[in-house]
Amino acid sequence: MKKNKLLKPIVKWAGGKRQLLGELCSRIPSDASLYVEPFVGGGAVLLDKQPEHARINDFNEELVNVYRVVRDDPEALLEALRIHEQKNDELRSEYYYTIRGLDRTDAYDTLSAIERAARIIYLNKTCFNGLFRVNSAGQLNVPYGRYKHPNIVNEVGIRALHAYLTEADVDIRCGDYANALQGLPQGSFVYLDPPYMPITATSAFTGYTQGGFGYDEQERLRDECAKLRNQGIHFLESNSDCKEVRELYSDFHIESVSAKRSINSRGDRRGPVGEVLISD
Ligand SMILES: C[S@@+](CC[C@H](N)C(=O)[O-])C[C@H]1O[C@@H](n2cnc3c(N)ncnc32)[C@H](O)[C@@H]1O
Repeated sequence: MKKNKLLKPIVKWAGGKRQLLGELCSRIPSDASLYVEPFVGGGAVLLDKQPEHARINDFNEELVNVYRVVRDDPEALLEALRIHEQKNDELRSEYYYTIRGLDRTDAYDTLSAIERAARIIYLNKTCFNGLFRVNSAGQLNVPYGRYKHPNIVNEVGIRALHAYLTEADVDIRCGDYANALQGLPQGSFVYLDPPYMPITATSAFTGYTQGGFGYDEQERLRDECAKLRNQGIHFLESNSDCKEVRELYSDFHIESVSAKRSINSRGDRRGPVGEVLISD
């Protein structure tokens, strides 16, 4: 399969890996029998590598629904996005808050998979900082972003992603990452990009889904990595460069890299953040 340069994430996701792509992709083999990404998010690494056999997973149902709808019905999705674009041009924030608030109403349960996917993409393109962040009740709580020309109908990107998801063999799953690590064939390669260990109390960012990802979760993840290593399955994990992570993975390979991240809405905290790449 020829690489498609137009293939890029269609949603901006917290922890997006664009800054580290070169460092990551050079460490991920291109000949793995199965490429596995259990915390896929926006999928920057997946879409750069474009493996022919992949298993992707995320805990976030709305995000996984976006991938499935792009695979199954891109034209209907584009049509729904055109309507959002038109209404957003007319009504701006008023429309945004109506669509954002849909998941607080009974009407939400009646939305089709296509309508739900279009809603998430629309909110992702128009919300402040383009970040999908939910509160403890699982509701999106990001304010309107006031962009002049948000790219709501990304035809090129959605068609490219549709082509990849249909031409390659990509198993799209929703649930806990540990389930996606079950039954991997020999020769699989796993790239893990979990919610990072917060470096300080103020930089804590665990708002991807309800529940968060605290220290206990980081410990469970380390144990899953040890299981992979025992099975002879190679992996790469990115995480923040801090004492806790270095301790948890003291008997794994750890390399430090630095990346510009923009998970903070405060511009003054956006400097380079130390990250580590962990491997077996
Ligand atoms: C750091 S982000 C991944 C960013 C991604 N690499 C990108 O380029 O956009 C972490 C992802 O893990 C997901 N997640 C959090 N807890 C999870 C769990 N227990 N199992 C699977 N996915 C989980 C979040 O929904 C989020 O999409």
